[in-house]
Amino acid sequence: MALNGIDAVVFGVADMAEAKRFLDDWGVSQISAAPDKLVYQTRDGGEVIVRPHDAPDLPPPIENGNTVREVIWGAANQPELDKTLQSLRTVESFRTGPDGLARATDPNGLSLAFRVSKRAPIVVKPTPTNAPGTHQRVNQRAPVRTQAHPINIGHVVVFADDLAKMRAFYLEKLGFVLSDEYPGFGVFTRCQKVGGHHNLFMMSRPGKPGINHVAFTVQDIHEVIGGGIAMSKKGWKTEIGPGRHPISGAYFWYFENPLAPPLEYYADEDFCTEEWQPTTYERKPELFAEWAIDGGIDGTTRRQLAPRDRSLRGHA
Ligand SMILES: [Fe+2]
Repeated sequence: MALNGIDAVVFGVADMAEAKRFLDDWGVSQISAAPDKLVYQTRDGGEVIVRPHDAPDLPPPIENGNTVREVIWGAANQPELDKTLQSLRTVESFRTGPDGLARATDPNGLSLAFRVSKRAPIVVKPTPTNAPGTHQRVNQRAPVRTQAHPINIGHVVVFADDLAKMRAFYLEKLGFVLSDEYPGFGVFTRCQKVGGHHNLFMMSRPGKPGINHVAFTVQDIHEVIGGGIAMSKKGWKTEIGPGRHPISGAYFWYFENPLAPPLEYYADEDFCTEEWQPTTYERKPELFAEWAIDGGIDGTTRRQLAPRDRSLRGHA
């Protein structure tokens, strides 16, 4: 498989200072901060790049407001990158940018760039669990985490103007693999056969392409919860979460933010190999969330902010 993950996401934003404040709280590491360019990294070296929305060298937006302007996909090495580029060369929008990176525009209008990955995958050990007869955590206290440190940028979810065209582009031109599907509505895909359940989920929304969210992997549910509570404590508003997706199995927490549509912490998604059997699902609300907290958890009281208390969600 030619591509091995998301190497960077480029955001175009209206307020660089607010974006910086959010990323400092989100737990990614600042690499550089210029007035017209912020660069932060996840633990594996994946990059969050933020530019003013009107920077002349940014690819055009696919929707109004703060949003993703480009996704940079990585390949393990040059031969693997070349394999992807070979099939992409037949795409009309294929080009080489001024920075030397190969680029193409997907059928949704989103700019994609490709490079030999700068990430160095890291191995983490989630908190071991105990159950009667199976004790993985012995003479060891379970942690309470107080801050997330995202490991990588795991997936992007988009609203597809033409889902069939998007499905064909990613599966046939970029070598993505189908993980699960809502026929005619949503397609979960991963960029390599052996990997996390999805790197790209596409949902049909004819006439209105856009970004649904961008997701950052953390090591376990305790980091989803601890990281989310830290964000709440700093005044950032929950979009929805914490909760758990039945499809992919992941625990999630989504936050409103000044970079784009929601950003997500998630952990414990299904891991797939060639043996994974894609399933088709009929759309039902319980397939988005096995359970979820609407409005988040207050960082101080550690209790749910009920929907009626949403005015309180922004308090620090
Ligand atoms: Fe997600």
